[in-house]
Amino acid sequence: MGIRALGYLVIATARMAEWDRFLTEMAGVMRSEEGPEGVSLYRIDDRPFRFWIERGRDERLQAAAYEVSDDVSFESLRARISAAGRPVENGGAEEARERGVAAFFRTSDPAGNGLEFYHGDSRTNVPFVSPLGIAEFVTGEMGMGHTVFSAPDFAASVAFYRDVVGFHETDMPRFYFGGGGPDDPGMGFAFMHADNGRHHSVALGEGPVPPSGCVHIMLELPSLLDVGKAHDRMKALGYPESASLGQHCNDETVGFYVQTPGGFDLEIGCDSLVIDPASWQVTRHEGISVWGHEWAWQKAMNEVQAAE
Ligand SMILES: [Fe+2]
Repeated sequence: MGIRALGYLVIATARMAEWDRFLTEMAGVMRSEEGPEGVSLYRIDDRPFRFWIERGRDERLQAAAYEVSDDVSFESLRARISAAGRPVENGGAEEARERGVAAFFRTSDPAGNGLEFYHGDSRTNVPFVSPLGIAEFVTGEMGMGHTVFSAPDFAASVAFYRDVVGFHETDMPRFYFGGGGPDDPGMGFAFMHADNGRHHSVALGEGPVPPSGCVHIMLELPSLLDVGKAHDRMKALGYPESASLGQHCNDETVGFYVQTPGGFDLEIGCDSLVIDPASWQVTRHEGISVWGHEWAWQKAMNEVQAAE
């Protein structure tokens, strides 16, 4: 068996208070009272945490952690990743307990993007209560959401996620941001699903790895009402909008992008397509958005052009 879902994120920061404000006051995520020294944990459902925020010198997504179905699959995945030449560091028993898992290991993809894999997940009886009254985040079998990484050695990284780890291709487009002319080679993208209905639990874009270690993460809310309110909070609290409200062609998510204190973006969306992983036929969409999603860099370029 392959990968079950995105379980949690490990984020290093020198700005713990800023992450706390962002998660609790903007995203509506719940602060957990648990957690080892120097670590703050945040919840979006009945998992003991989904955000592990640890004190560090740099602002960085340390790892996206994916759940593997059982110990046999876990051992076999570790052997495959090691055989593929990637470094593997086993988590200690105490560390595993703190992460709420039976066992985990740290590794990275061929571009160096941080990953953890674990099995034996846990749940808490302490109810999830959003500080902003959000009834729930869409998680369950589809996991926490998705992570998008960047990889200069695109083909090698895609092969790693597909052939070594066991994700499956959902949408494999090439986007032409330069108009698609002879001087525009385009950019490869790979949207890949785990063994659940979420359209993609991981995605890769062809390009250099950003200093933040991540392009964006995504959380799903139950309704457009929730997304609209989150958009209002972003504006009221003065967080930078990375992309305005819009809808994606491939996973149909309606949402927006806000810059996190870590430098990468958080996509907050709703109404995401649920696929049948058993019968899915790979698509190659030609566009990113059906409507909206004016990116901050596009907006800035348009403003410069308008001023000329
Ligand atoms: Fe996304």
